[in-house]
Amino acid sequence: MSSVTPFLRRQSLLWLSAALFLPLYADEVESEKAFIRENMEFAVRQYELMMQQPTTGNGKNCMPRTMNSSGALSKTHIYEWTSGFFPGSLWYLYDFTRQEALADSARAYMQLLEPVKKYTGNHDVGFMMYCSYGNALRFAPRPEYKDILVESARSLCTRFRPQAGIIQSWNGFRSWHGEQTFKMPVIIDNMMNLELLFYAAKVTGDEKFRQIAISHADKTLKNHLRKDYSCYHVVAYDDQTGRPIKGETAQGYSDNSTWSRGQAWGIYGFTMTYRETRDKRYLKAAEKAADFFINHPNLPSDMIPWWDFNAYQKGYTPGVRSNARVFTANYRDASAAACVASALLELSGYVKAKKKQEYLQAAKTILHSLGSEAYRAPYKKNAYFVLMHSVGSIPHKAEMDVPLVYADYYFIEALYRYHRILSGQSAL
Ligand code: GLY
Repeated sequence: MSSVTPFLRRQSLLWLSAALFLPLYADEVESEKAFIRENMEFAVRQYELMMQQPTTGNGKNCMPRTMNSSGALSKTHIYEWTSGFFPGSLWYLYDFTRQEALADSARAYMQLLEPVKKYTGNHDVGFMMYCSYGNALRFAPRPEYKDILVESARSLCTRFRPQAGIIQSWNGFRSWHGEQTFKMPVIIDNMMNLELLFYAAKVTGDEKFRQIAISHADKTLKNHLRKDYSCYHVVAYDDQTGRPIKGETAQGYSDNSTWSRGQAWGIYGFTMTYRETRDKRYLKAAEKAADFFINHPNLPSDMIPWWDFNAYQKGYTPGVRSNARVFTANYRDASAAACVASALLELSGYVKAKKKQEYLQAAKTILHSLGSEAYRAPYKKNAYFVLMHSVGSIPHKAEMDVPLVYADYYFIEALYRYHRILSGQSAL
């Protein structure tokens, strides 16, 4: 792993970013930029090979997701929650390199997703459409993208449940305890989908989108965050009264544990919600949730978390049907780390100097860990994904210690944001 230089180690050659007052040294800025460039170029080379893998087209099994047990690329159809990440990564790589061929590829993959704008089967339309079309709007806009995104936002709003004030995530959730199926579950991941609604409110002037996003964020603030600012994964609401019934987990170790990627979604989601609302309650939630993550005693020194902060510890018990009960190997989750790095880079722009330093240093440590040979794949390996060692869901016995397309997406996004900060710009 490359060494991680503290931001304030040397006393001379101080370079002060005018925009962000980020103290760095001129030579260190250049070596950090070279690190970013090398990783972005590596991602382009891997993805060029990935894109040569067969696709069945017509929206069926066309989107890269992970690697199967034979080591081959595994793809999913467009209605899987991960479908927007690959085109989204290509858009970031395009904007970073300005290679037109990457824009053509990003557009070709993204256009397969257009039917998703009508999808109302779960809450993930925000992930699917905003990571793809949202990035296209930033980097290579076309007029039709706005309508596609607004229609996607309308689809997401069909899942708003006024009696509870939330957007329903899944159509039902069967508890790992085997006791109950909850009819109105909300997962912390859902915070990520609100960005699509904030966008739709801005471009249409229709406040309804924004009101729904804020209502959902407020309920999440109240019911998903524990006193120590760790997050429940699932909160089940009563479909009649709209009251929260219980916090449980679907992908974490146990109901009272902290699933690392869930914590990452919370940090990222509240940071983004603060950006869109300037409401300090969300900033506080983002900061405290970030502090929980980066200062946790169980976070390894390379800052890549175990898949759950409390896995296999006393006081934490998986439900009887969960595979976590019998599966004893512990794994890191590079996807959670990548998402946190990206979120911290944005969050560093909203906080006071000391915290800014802390968040930038943590993001830098994570990015250098992910970019090291411990997590970054060798060229032509890893089914052409960039990062190894992520976890989809141990309780479901699915995607354990594999590459995942969203780990790559948030790594690439974080590198992109870091490069902007080093160039004296805001993270996004
Ligand atoms: N949003 C699903 C997951 O994080 O695995």
